[in-house]
Order: sequence, then C-alpha cells, then structure tokens
Amino acid sequence: MGGAASAASSTQSILLPQARFATGDNAAWREPNFDDSGWKLLSTTQYYEAQGFEGYDGYSWYRIHVVIPSALRESSDWRKRLRVYLSAIDDSDESYLNGVLIGKTGRMPSDPGGYEGRWDVVRDYQVDLPNDSIRWDADNVIAVRVYDGGGGGGFYRDTPHLSIPQRADGLQFDQAQASHRLLANGKIQSVLSVRNSYPVAQRGRLEIEVRDQLKNRVLMTRKQSIRLAPQTSQTLRWTLPSGPGIQARLRYLDAGSGHAATAIHQLPYRLTPPDGPKPALHGARLLGSRPGTPLHYRIAATGRAPLRFSAQGLPRGLKLDGKTGVISGITPKEGRYIVKLGVRNALGSAKREWTLVAGAQLALTPPMGWNSWYAHGLAVSDSLVRKAAQVFIDKGLAAKGWSRINIDDGWESEQRAADGQISGNQRFPDMLALGQSLHAQGLGFGIYSSPGATTCGGYLGSLGHEFNDAATYGRWGVDFLKYDLCSYAQTLSKPPTLDEQQQPYRLMNQALRLEPRSIIFSLCQYGEEKVWNWGPSVGGQLWRMTGDIDDSWSSVLQNGFAMAPYTGVVAPGRWNDPDMLMVGTLGLGGAPHPSRLTPDEQYSQVSLWSLMAAPLLISNDMRSLDEFTLGLLTNHDVIAINQDALGKGAQRVLDRDGWQVWVKELEGGSMAVGIFNLGESLRSTQIESSLFARPGQFEAFDAWRQKKLGLKSKNIDVTLPAHGVALLLVK
Ligand code: GAL
Repeated sequence: MGGAASAASSTQSILLPQARFATGDNAAWREPNFDDSGWKLLSTTQYYEAQGFEGYDGYSWYRIHVVIPSALRESSDWRKRLRVYLSAIDDSDESYLNGVLIGKTGRMPSDPGGYEGRWDVVRDYQVDLPNDSIRWDADNVIAVRVYDGGGGGGFYRDTPHLSIPQRADGLQFDQAQASHRLLANGKIQSVLSVRNSYPVAQRGRLEIEVRDQLKNRVLMTRKQSIRLAPQTSQTLRWTLPSGPGIQARLRYLDAGSGHAATAIHQLPYRLTPPDGPKPALHGARLLGSRPGTPLHYRIAATGRAPLRFSAQGLPRGLKLDGKTGVISGITPKEGRYIVKLGVRNALGSAKREWTLVAGAQLALTPPMGWNSWYAHGLAVSDSLVRKAAQVFIDKGLAAKGWSRINIDDGWESEQRAADGQISGNQRFPDMLALGQSLHAQGLGFGIYSSPGATTCGGYLGSLGHEFNDAATYGRWGVDFLKYDLCSYAQTLSKPPTLDEQQQPYRLMNQALRLEPRSIIFSLCQYGEEKVWNWGPSVGGQLWRMTGDIDDSWSSVLQNGFAMAPYTGVVAPGRWNDPDMLMVGTLGLGGAPHPSRLTPDEQYSQVSLWSLMAAPLLISNDMRSLDEFTLGLLTNHDVIAINQDALGKGAQRVLDRDGWQVWVKELEGGSMAVGIFNLGESLRSTQIESSLFARPGQFEAFDAWRQKKLGLKSKNIDVTLPAHGVALLLVK
C-alpha cells in the first residue's frame, strides 16, 4: 500500500521535457552529428500518438539535445556517475549517449528471442564517470530507439532528466519493501527498508518527522544513526499515528558532506467503518442475463455468521442455496422478475428487492471483479486464480458485490491440438473444473484472448479460430471475454479504416452469440477510433478507453480524469473502461510491490471510477490483501454509487485551479459528488452547492466515512490533502 517514497535530494538535475522525433529505423540516427533539425519536436511526457502520430506502431527514434555543464559535476561530492533518467517508454528501447549504448529495456523484434515490450519499467540508466563520450559544456545527444508493439508508444510518464548524484543519493527508502499495518487502536505499524544502492559505504543520520498536515502539527520525531556497507539495507520499524493528511518525512544526512536525501511517505488510513454484526444486503439491485442461459449469482450480504438467505419470487428454473446465498439455474424467458432477497442471523433480518432482467442486455451495472494481469502477469496459474476467489469469499469482497474472477493473458497452451482446439497450458490443467469451482461459489469466470495470431504477451491468439475458441469457452463455462487487439494491429492498413478496426470484434461477437451462455464482451483496443461511439454495435458491453494504466498519478490523470468528455455515452450495458484499479500489491508477476499511488491517490481513483460508472476491476495479489486496501474495496456506500441502477457516468462540472468536481445522478434523484484536489499540497476551498444541489436545503452524507453531514444550504468547505477526494451523497 501506498506512500510515494521516491527519494529526493539537493542534487541538481537538468530536465529533458522535449525531444526530436521520427518514425522509422536507421542506425545512423544514434550518431551525435546526425542532422535532425527537420524532425518534429515532441514532449517527452506524452505518447507520440497524442502528438500527431495517431495509430503508429513499429520503430521510431527520439533525439534529445542537452548541454551538460561541468559545474553539474563540480556540485556533486561523489562524481562517479551520470544518471540518465528516461522515465517509462512504451514498449522497448535502446538508448545511446553520443552514439554509445547506455541502456536497453525489453527486446526488439530483431533481437534473439524476439520482441518483448516492457512499457511498465522505468529507465534509470547510469553512466560511469569519468567517461570519454561525454562532451562537457557542449551539445550531447541522447538517442533513443523505440519499438512500439501496439497501443500508446514512446515516452509517456514523468519528465526525463540528467544528474550527477551525490553520495547521499545512494541511500534509498525502498518503496518495494515498505509495509504498513493498520492496528486496532487506529495507529499503524510501519516497516521501512533503507537501502544503500551505491558501491560506497554510507554513514549518517536519519531523521523521521510525522506531521499532521490538517492540524499543522508535528506528532512525532525520531533520529537514528545509519551505517550501511555498499549494497546493503536496514529495516526500520515504527508505530505511527494514522489519519487523513498525516505524513512521515524522512531525511538522511550524510555525515561527511552534510548533503541530504529526503522522502515523504503519505501514511495509509482507513475511512470505511467496519461492518456491523446485524445482517445487511449489498450489491447491485439488478442483473441482466439472456433467456435459457446458465446463471450463477451470489447474494451480497454482511452480518455475523451464520447467515441464512431467502429469495421470494425466484422464477422457476432457479434455486437458492439458503446457506451460501448462491442462486443458480437457467435464466427464465424474457421478462423482469422482481425477487425479494432476504438475509437473517441471530440478531435480525434484512430484505430488499432485486430484479432479474431476462433479455438481450448484459452488464446492466458495471462489472466488478478481479483480473490477474497486474498481480501475476504471464505467471498466472490455476491456483492463483482459485486463491483470488477464496479471498473474495473469506475477506468479504463477495459480500459487497465483487463477483467476477477474470484470467488475463498467460493461460493459453503453446500449441493448438490437431483439430485446432486451444487448451490451458501446464499452469491451467483443467479449465472446466476451474470454471465449475468459481460458479459453485456464485462467481463469474472470465478469460482473455486476442483477435491476432498472438496476444500481447506472445501467447496464442484467436485469429482464424474464432468460432472454435468461442465454443471452447462455452464448454468451459466462461462468462466474460476480454478481447485484446495486440498483434492484430499489424494486419491493419495504416491508418486503419473504421471497418477494419471493428471487423475482428464483430466476428468474435458472432461466435460468442452462438454459445448458450451470457458472455460479457470486453473490448480492448486502447480506445482507438473513438470506440465508445461504436462499442455496442459490435456487441461490446465495455471498452478500454486508453492504453494500459500503471500505479502512477500521471496515469490516473491520463486514464481517469482525462475521460471527462466521454462520460455522457455511459449507460446500462455500455461502460467506458479506463483500465484497472491500482490498489494493493502489484507487480505483473515480477517483483511484487505495494501500489505506488499514495493512499489519497487510491481513494481518489476508487472514487472517480465509482463516479464514472467504470468497471471496477482490481488486479492485486490477493495473497497479500492488506487492511487499507480492504477498506478501499469494501465500502458499500461507495460501491453503490458505481452500481447505481440508472447507470449514468458523472459529469465534470468544475475544473478550476486544480480543483475538480464530478457529479453523478443516481436513481431516485440524489447526486453523488466527488470533489478532488489535483494540487500538489493540502489545500482548502469552497465549492458552490449550485453545482450539484437545488436551491434551498440539502442533506449531505460522507460516503467514505458513511457519516451524515446534516442539512446544508450554502456552499461546501473542504480541506483535502494533495490528490485527495471528498465523496458526498447529496439529497
Ligand atoms: C495489454 C492489455 C493489458 C493486458 C496485457 C496482456 O495489451 O492492455 O490489459 O491484458 O495486454 O498481455
């Protein structure tokens, strides 16, 4: 869990916000003296697609010109390295300084082993000093050869920069090793790792100061000395206060030079109150399923065990397991069936209406579930998937409406059988049994493929086998297919026509519709050709709007906040998918780490996705689901905003000085209101209530804290931490 902990220091750096750019590939383009003056100048923090190269995949080069002053070297007390920080590059790169290779991430199609995209990895290249290829006080060229395999391409995250680190910069507050445990008394136990990443010993003092930004008070300070041999680390443990706006500031002072490295940790805090012991029903109030197809549904309910369930008016063909709350059977003929769901325990009972809509439409509320990708990448396995389902039940996610378990890329066999049939690989020995076990728990079973010959991960895609694959999914009991463009992009003309873009989705939809199942069709082609305008016409219920998200704030801005113009198309069965929630332990199957989003950024992402009525897909490693993340995911008042039956996407009604207000109309006339502080520090403001309430009095409710705020009539005052949110319900 969060806490942006990137170390900062007094070290000077040179920002590299722009580069010259050309598509194509030519070995001469790495040379410093090549004349690139005719090349286009692009920003290095945004995909080239967004800067005039729409739809381009394949090779391209960036050339960054930079004068490296010798004064930069003189300002360092160490002078052993030049750091060339190139941020993240989509998908693979080879980077040269004045013609000499300084780093490479991923593989090019012509490399041994073939293409491997590593768009998610930060390129932090280091050049040892002294170094003859550097031209001090003169023009240097950083030339970056890029290969984009599909979707967004090139530089896209934070600003690249150059620096000559101080010795103290070797000391890092290792984000990947940090962990925070929320204690019953409201405090948190923090374990932090301090690592010396340089080949030189570190000796100095570490100061930690815990500050409540809301009250502007220092809550705790502590000092301790640090001695670390090269490439070693030390673990520090503290019990700290927790709450909104509380942060720990860490400062390491090098004993010799007095240089400092600093980091700020935003500490996690839980807002969602614990569930009470009395029975309560949660989750969406309606479900769409096609007549004659199998149905598996788990009633979402909390309360002290044992719980007993009832369902009055359940249509014939469906039965309820009174102990588990799982409804199963065959969807009846077309119609709306109003069922009175009930749950009771020793302390009482609860009832509520639930409507089964038997008809053509699926996903009447945004799909909510788990996807394997960001936790396990291509290392996903049957046991990891089963584990995720188990955690859904054991930790109370299913009790709040989380109902789908979706396998992403990496399940496919290496080859098809002689008759063309695909199967699971050795990590998925029995897909049918896996699906059955999910269904027995009342959970949906999701799978992934590509219309291309291969998937983005290089596994088998469905090209030429669409009907065969759909039939296999049908046999396995699949309820959800994510269909990812990937290598299909290479078969399209450049630029592709709209018809070409739609064709593979139309085809797979035809194949899926032959199966006697209600299979939700999730389009993944990164938002190309304004898919939100035609997704339903090719059979989709949800469509990705953008390239892949990652656990950085800039990515949440790009995938989430920038989607404001498109929320008007959202309706039941038509969902804009801004990609997954970056919460919990992530790692793509490589090094697991807590989400790099701060706790406030995570509250904001979950709030915004709920307001936009985006599919709620988590993708964390469920083996290490922590208390903070659980609190983020089990707030039934927040989930109810997302799952509201009206199915509206919020409108952004204010965007001013780094403040945004998003308003979502709910069934029954109330409004959900998100107030976001997009600024870089804790700030206060007043929001005009006319943006979301009728004149006169209105009742306000804090959704995260599940607390009534009382009757209001005027404007609303808020104070929010950097990137924080207030999520209100207004009646
Ligand atoms: C990407 C897709 C990701 C994930 C990955 C699997 O193209 O956007 O969400 O599915 O492929 O290889």
